Amino acid sequence: MNQANDKSKFVRSHLAVETVNVPSGTEVVLNGWVQRRRDLGSIVFIDLRDRSGIVQLVFDTSKGTPADALSTANQLRSEFVVAVRGILVERDENAVNAKIATGHIEVTVMDVTVLNKSKTPPFYIQDGIDADESVRLRHRYLDLRRPEMQKMLRLRHQVIRAMRLYLDDESFVEVETPVLTKSTPEGARDYLVPSRLQPGEFYALPQSPQLFKQLLMVSGLERYYQVARCFRDEDLRADRQPEFTQVDIEQSFIPLHEFQAMMEGMMKEVFAKVLKKDIPVPFARLSYEDAMDRYGSDKPDLRFGMEIQDISHLVQDTDFKVFTSALEDGGVVRALVAPSCAGYSRKQTDALTDFVKQYGLKGLATIAVQDGQIKSSIQKFFSEEQLQQIATALGADKGDLILIAAASKKTVRQGLGALRQKLGQDLELTDPNEFRFLWVTDFPLVSYDEDLGRYVAEHHPFTMPREEDLHLLDTDPGSVRAAAYDMVLNGYEIGGGSMRIYRRDIQERMFSALGFTKEEAYEQFGFLLNAFEYGTPPHGGIALGIDRIVMLMGGRNSIRDSIAFPKTSRGSDLMIHAPAPVSSEQLHTLSLEIEKSEAQQVNG
Ligand code: AMO
Repeated sequence: MNQANDKSKFVRSHLAVETVNVPSGTEVVLNGWVQRRRDLGSIVFIDLRDRSGIVQLVFDTSKGTPADALSTANQLRSEFVVAVRGILVERDENAVNAKIATGHIEVTVMDVTVLNKSKTPPFYIQDGIDADESVRLRHRYLDLRRPEMQKMLRLRHQVIRAMRLYLDDESFVEVETPVLTKSTPEGARDYLVPSRLQPGEFYALPQSPQLFKQLLMVSGLERYYQVARCFRDEDLRADRQPEFTQVDIEQSFIPLHEFQAMMEGMMKEVFAKVLKKDIPVPFARLSYEDAMDRYGSDKPDLRFGMEIQDISHLVQDTDFKVFTSALEDGGVVRALVAPSCAGYSRKQTDALTDFVKQYGLKGLATIAVQDGQIKSSIQKFFSEEQLQQIATALGADKGDLILIAAASKKTVRQGLGALRQKLGQDLELTDPNEFRFLWVTDFPLVSYDEDLGRYVAEHHPFTMPREEDLHLLDTDPGSVRAAAYDMVLNGYEIGGGSMRIYRRDIQERMFSALGFTKEEAYEQFGFLLNAFEYGTPPHGGIALGIDRIVMLMGGRNSIRDSIAFPKTSRGSDLMIHAPAPVSSEQLHTLSLEIEKSEAQQVNG
């Protein structure tokens, strides 16, 4: 193969896509990867790919390509790295490819050198492949070579950059907080790091920089942010990773609504700069209770309606035991109207019933509003008139299918909420180019954990109770609402925050509501309680989940696509093989011993 004697003659002059601005007849030097080779014998076409896109190279001796360059072209394979020197020419009219940016030009190659060869990759380096995800993750460096993944990395960079610029303009200061911190009993499970110098003791990786950012408010910084890596050892889902990134923000002396406006301004600017989309502000606001009642979710997708409606009052005096006994037990009867689904077969409605059973509902009653008649699974217990009355009350039109659930309020919210989300997707009611933001507010401060036998904080223990509920903190913590808010986008929680407790006495009452004795609270959080005694300003903040935001902006449905090197649902990195065992010397240095499982003991 042709080795370059003089490497400088192959120093890139243009990116592939930049060639569209170059006059015909100009010499260009391009560097990149072989996307595709078409060999017509005396002519070889190569699609050359670089970070900007693709341009066509032509090796044609009748157009001046030297014979040795053509022979090199014959040996090129997918993903070889090459440098070429050639002349930019307009394509013949019949050879124009309108699908790519450089489709009206090509480069007639005069010289070529192979910078590196490539084995045949395990999948095509192109968009829309259906390769198994584990293969993609094992060869992530190749997966990230695909244009759609490069687009996601660039998008992420642009989003974070736009946020930084906005926050910088608003005088926020980026501060790095420790990654080796302390395990605390609230929140998700911690990742622990053993200490060598203090045998038997452990650091914890931060679940968030929450306490440090509050301490920075005590320090008088007033406006802080950080692009912070957070670690949580929780069960993973498509929108959860064990390590993820927050843009973490905290501000002093700002009322809740003004802080929300500051964040709305930031999201508006990010979407305008990065996606050229105008996001209306202020965002819609829904209280937690309203969100749960109307959408069965604290992160509703508002791109479609299909609200859950209560029909308890319409069925309470009927003979249908399933409904009346649910009501007698203090439950509710609620319904969804699925548009244009009246023609669903028995099999289809059974599938919906099976779906809601996962959420604890025993079944679904159906009313199909068909042409001039009503067909219902509860026809035996209701008159045509009663069914019609329900349909009218729900605003159901001809062709709609009403789905009714009866159970405790919690179960009905969960079941119908999940069903609404599923139908929204199945019936394609959501526009992927629409971005509907909202704030969900007034979360309960705490909820009762049956397993722990005590209250746990809904957001975290540093969240301020709403002022008008503060008096209930000691007597009835379950009914206290929090000055907390989630930022929600298209059915995802993309951010969570709150106004904070900044007085020692209230923080102590909060710990006590969570079942800590005074001593336990002091042992765990004494540094914070002490700090509160030195002039702590009122403050609040938020953390935005960057991985989720980028996923949504990029139109993807897994955060693995917005993270360069993500982990599998079992928490593994398939490329570098983490987690992995360590040597007994390393364990010894850390004063650690691995407890063998029974199976290992039998075998070993
Ligand atoms: P919270 O726990 O609500 O709040 O987290 C804030 C945001 O981080 C994102 N997020 C995640 N993203 C990917 N994988 C995960 N495992 C994961 N967990 C959370 C979500 C979420 O809305 N310290 C508080 C913030 C504050 O009060 O200021 C906190 O961490 O988008």
